[in-house]
Amino acid sequence: MQEQAKIGENTAERKEEIRKRIEELRDLIHYHNYRYYVLDEPEISDAEYDRLFKELEDLEAKYPEFITPDSPTQRIGAKPLEEFGTYEHSIPMLSLNSVTEEHEVWEFDERVRRALGEEEIEYVVEPKIDGLAMEIVYRDGVLVVGSTRGDGRVGEDVTQNIKTIKSIPLRLMKERLPLLEVRGEVYMPVSKFKELNKELGRRGERMFANPRNAAAGSVRQLDPRVTASRPLDFFAYGVGRVEGREFRTQWEILNYLKEVGFRVSPLVRLFRKIREVIEYHDELEKIRAELDYEIDGVVVKVNSIEQQNRLGTISRSPRWAIAYKFAPREEFTKVKDIVVQVGRTGALTPVAVLEPVQIGGVTVSRATLHNEEELKRKDVRIGDTVVVERAGDVIPEIVSVVKSKRTGAEKEFKMPDRCPVCGAEVLKDGPIRRCIGVACPAQLKERIKHFASQRAMDIEGLGGKVIEQLVDRKMVSDPADIYFLTKRDLLKLDRMGEKLAQKILDAIDKSKQTTFERLIYALGIRHVGEHTASLLASHFRDMDELRNASYDELVSIPEIGPEVARSIILFFEQDSTDRLLRKLEEAGVRYEKLPEVKKEATLAGKTFVFTGKLSIPREDAKRLVEELGGRVATSVSKKTDYVVVGEDPGSKLVKAQQLGVKVIDEEEFMALTGRK
Ligand code: IVH
Repeated sequence: MQEQAKIGENTAERKEEIRKRIEELRDLIHYHNYRYYVLDEPEISDAEYDRLFKELEDLEAKYPEFITPDSPTQRIGAKPLEEFGTYEHSIPMLSLNSVTEEHEVWEFDERVRRALGEEEIEYVVEPKIDGLAMEIVYRDGVLVVGSTRGDGRVGEDVTQNIKTIKSIPLRLMKERLPLLEVRGEVYMPVSKFKELNKELGRRGERMFANPRNAAAGSVRQLDPRVTASRPLDFFAYGVGRVEGREFRTQWEILNYLKEVGFRVSPLVRLFRKIREVIEYHDELEKIRAELDYEIDGVVVKVNSIEQQNRLGTISRSPRWAIAYKFAPREEFTKVKDIVVQVGRTGALTPVAVLEPVQIGGVTVSRATLHNEEELKRKDVRIGDTVVVERAGDVIPEIVSVVKSKRTGAEKEFKMPDRCPVCGAEVLKDGPIRRCIGVACPAQLKERIKHFASQRAMDIEGLGGKVIEQLVDRKMVSDPADIYFLTKRDLLKLDRMGEKLAQKILDAIDKSKQTTFERLIYALGIRHVGEHTASLLASHFRDMDELRNASYDELVSIPEIGPEVARSIILFFEQDSTDRLLRKLEEAGVRYEKLPEVKKEATLAGKTFVFTGKLSIPREDAKRLVEELGGRVATSVSKKTDYVVVGEDPGSKLVKAQQLGVKVIDEEEFMALTGRK
């Protein structure tokens, strides 16, 4: 009997140990999730993270009684729903009065001052994220409900989907209030939106007109596995009902939200003067295209909660806040014609020729219609009045057709059966029609333009106009031919002088020294973009090795799938590829391999920019980064991961702060590269 009790005790003890380990793993995973998705500063490698996650999954599979809804394993897993339930907000989600003119902002300030008397007023300015408003409810620090705004009073219960968004904590850090309702915006990063649309286009599925529609469509998926596959993100900007804590200001709320584990926009600012608010609005309008998320204006909020309460609300909009919007990026115009462009791979793309319109300071006269199916779906006809949108640096899109303006004189457009440029046959390849002409001048022009482009062989001066003439005059028949051009050849072209010709020849000559990854990218292999080119360049020693690679070897490289592998094999099977490579070699094109990544690639995928004077030479700093698999760029963009500041930093520092890029000093840099 005694023996029995002991064993029982042992299992109970053992179970307690397992429960503890599960708890510990969850804490670790939540923490590393936060480092990765919220701070963008991972502390451990992906492999280590995967190990922790796997261990937790295994333990939970064995001991399902220990699974809790806030376990990181529970982000996906729920079954598709039949329909969404409804959710009533405990405090209505208000909307904002929006203004577009500066004088309206002054008037807002006057109204606020009149109502509050002679008091000091501070304004919080936040970017107005163009996504989808959400409320996320935490009870005792655990996410229990996620819901859309709906009509402000009642929204849809999208908890399952919200839980798949990695930057939304499943449980709060630091403290666990009995109740915290967090409000914010779900959005899709512009870069991810473009990738998603490209993929949907390739599969012939319906594409999204803009990142906001993509975010909304993804949140309102009945199958959470689809939502999980969509790259959504979240910025928190406010709270609903809160128990266990009082906030005095909006600024305090934003800081609190950061502390408990949310992403808050790095572009939020606090001002005392409305003039400063207006200036900041103008500043953000200038950099909006550089951000990886869409903003359509700023939200101006009176900072003090007590003042907010005194100002109150009228007809569902607070009197203490306004949206100060940027100039619209949607305009009406007319479709003058629909033409077909032939791309580098022979793909036929219908393009709408528009009556030129100004959208956000840029003249738009063309909009892509992507492919035949999109054209049919949108039902765009020649003569139609359409709504055109220019979203960030995305190619202008036709959002919709204003059917009420149709007169009956509009003409439907049919995709041609023959290539409009070379007359060769056109074959259907999924949703895409492709010209199969091997010598199609349109394809050749695009291939050479790609080859010479800045991110490929970087031949300055060899632009579209010159290339078109070279092809039309049959002076080149593949990209390698440009290396055999003489000054006499170039001088035959229109608008070509001695000086320009020399400049182009010099640039052509200079491009002969390149890197392996640029050369691979320049070849224009289908499905091989810059990223894949760099994967291939670090996997293979030289072009010969790449050329001889088998399908199995290619697909064994992480991130290279069957479609890409097949495309690479097909490319190197062509006789024309053989000829091209031989000619390039003959011309003296040489490439260097990137430095071998011997050490653990702890900075893989990270981009650094240096500004100011460091105590070690820049070249050395650059080598440090590259040895660890990172890259060094010369200018700051939203893709930059770290800006390293030395003495007397320049404007790059300002840019970094505007874009919310992480800024580190030399000491931190040395620590990151393991030199300290
Ligand atoms: S505050 C009273 N802050 O704009 C507070 N809204 O019409 C109301 N939005 O539905 C919202 N960024 O979807 C607030 N920083 C921000 C925002 C923001 C985007 C959206 C939100 C809301 C709409 C207001």
